[in-house]
Amino acid sequence: MHILIFCSIPFVLIIASHIFRLGKELFTAPSLLSIPGPFLARFTRLWYFTRVLNGNFEKENLDLHAKYGPVVRLSPGHYSINNKADVKTVYGAGSRFTKAKWYDAFKEPSPDNWSVFSDRDNKRHGETRRKFSSLYSMSSLLHYEGFVDASADIFMERLNEFSQREQTIDFHHWLQCYSFDVIGQITFGQRFGFLDKGEDIMGAISTVRQILTFSCLAGIYVEWYPLLYKLLNSLPGSGPGGLLFIINFVVDKVRQLNEKRTQGTEKASDATIPKTQDFMERMAIARDENPGKITDYHLEMMGNSNVVAGSDTTAITLSAIMYYLLRTPYAHSRLRREIDEFTSRDRCSQRITFKESQEMPYLQAVIKEALRMHNATGLPLWREVPAGGAEINGHVIPQGSVVGINTWVAHYDEEFFPDAKSFIPERWIEGATDAEQLRKMNEMYMPFGLGGRTCLGRHISTLEISKLIPQLIRDFDFELENQNWTTENLWFVKPMDFRVKISLRKKE
Ligand code: HEM
Repeated sequence: MHILIFCSIPFVLIIASHIFRLGKELFTAPSLLSIPGPFLARFTRLWYFTRVLNGNFEKENLDLHAKYGPVVRLSPGHYSINNKADVKTVYGAGSRFTKAKWYDAFKEPSPDNWSVFSDRDNKRHGETRRKFSSLYSMSSLLHYEGFVDASADIFMERLNEFSQREQTIDFHHWLQCYSFDVIGQITFGQRFGFLDKGEDIMGAISTVRQILTFSCLAGIYVEWYPLLYKLLNSLPGSGPGGLLFIINFVVDKVRQLNEKRTQGTEKASDATIPKTQDFMERMAIARDENPGKITDYHLEMMGNSNVVAGSDTTAITLSAIMYYLLRTPYAHSRLRREIDEFTSRDRCSQRITFKESQEMPYLQAVIKEALRMHNATGLPLWREVPAGGAEINGHVIPQGSVVGINTWVAHYDEEFFPDAKSFIPERWIEGATDAEQLRKMNEMYMPFGLGGRTCLGRHISTLEISKLIPQLIRDFDFELENQNWTTENLWFVKPMDFRVKISLRKKE
């Protein structure tokens, strides 16, 4: 009997806290009560947790807005939004909304630990971006293009081998190998080596996956995160274990770089690596020129961000471009024609340059449309309402509440993207679409996020993508094994069964 009473205490406490919160809402912010959403989401975060765990929340989020309207409650104090005016309020210029606590689960749980991606301190974050944004700028791409070529060459070698045998391959896995190796080369001047055999060397690919899975779920119960982290961090194969693995890897790279710099030895020994500066080398120079302002912590944190934020996202986007092209034969033929025409006019080199790729209008439209149809991130980009509260679609939302838009919800909004479920690159081509419609679409187009927190690496990913896709389309034929792929959304919306048969391009 005593045991029964003892065991029921946590449940009683949980129910009491829900009743307390509802009561508080009723008195302090009655307009919140009218925000619709699934019944259970009013009482507990468990509803949202289980829906995210289900792995296709991007689709569910769309259905919820179709059912409930522009503001939907996903859990107590958390509201998904889809209205253009509200998006401006939350993410627009001068916004005081900070990233929500959910992002705390994407870093080590210590107050001294922060990263450019997860930082909730807008002032410090602004300073970090100002210090390092030049490393990600368009003009920096000149430094990195040779690194991309070096990895792309090896990738092409592998694809040539597969195509000789007309082999069916897990294309997403190989695109991951490419993306990881490129980001390794750009960041540290050294490939990880995935493209050599297609092996997940040191388990880095699965490690990033564990980090994302753990963080995106643990962030929903963020007050438990430090404890969960402590409990799990010694377990290999767990999210915290993975995070530590990547951190240690990057710390080691920074140590090696510092040793080489103090000894004055040549950094790169790989003959395939061009003699331009990689990201870490450029950071080390900045650190030595600004002692005290830029430290080893910055080097480690930015290196880590590049690997975690820049590898899977690029691989997913490459997969999405190829998937939608293979499902849309007219678009595939039109792109191939564009590449062939450019080649015949000497405007498309064997190793396609970034500059050449930017001059191909249909290629750019294809990339833009695939990023719209399949954005790498698939959960709301949560932001915390600042002091003074905010008005969202007529609801007065108190400070400390959390609101956010899911890029999938924006990109499938028929008001902005007519026939949103169809892959139509032409919608992005001036002339095929009128200027007013283009302006309207661009306002709701957010594959790289929004406002002061937009993706730092977007130009780097554009470089990797724009150079590779035309080479793939020009040189190979691909056949989809499944016309409809399955995906899993645990923050990043990853293809699970993107298999293709690859062969050398047949003469037409
Ligand atoms: C096609 C590929 C990519 C996509 C679709 C993408 C998407 C995004 C999105 C949506 C955000 C905002 C997330 C939020 O608000 O919570 C973001 C942030 C970020 N991304 Fe990317 N990303 C890509 C590639 C990259 C690459 C290659 C890098 C690094 C080289 C990178 C580094 C970052 C960083 C550091 C942030 C945090 C920026 C900040 O908060 O100031 N990303 N990305």
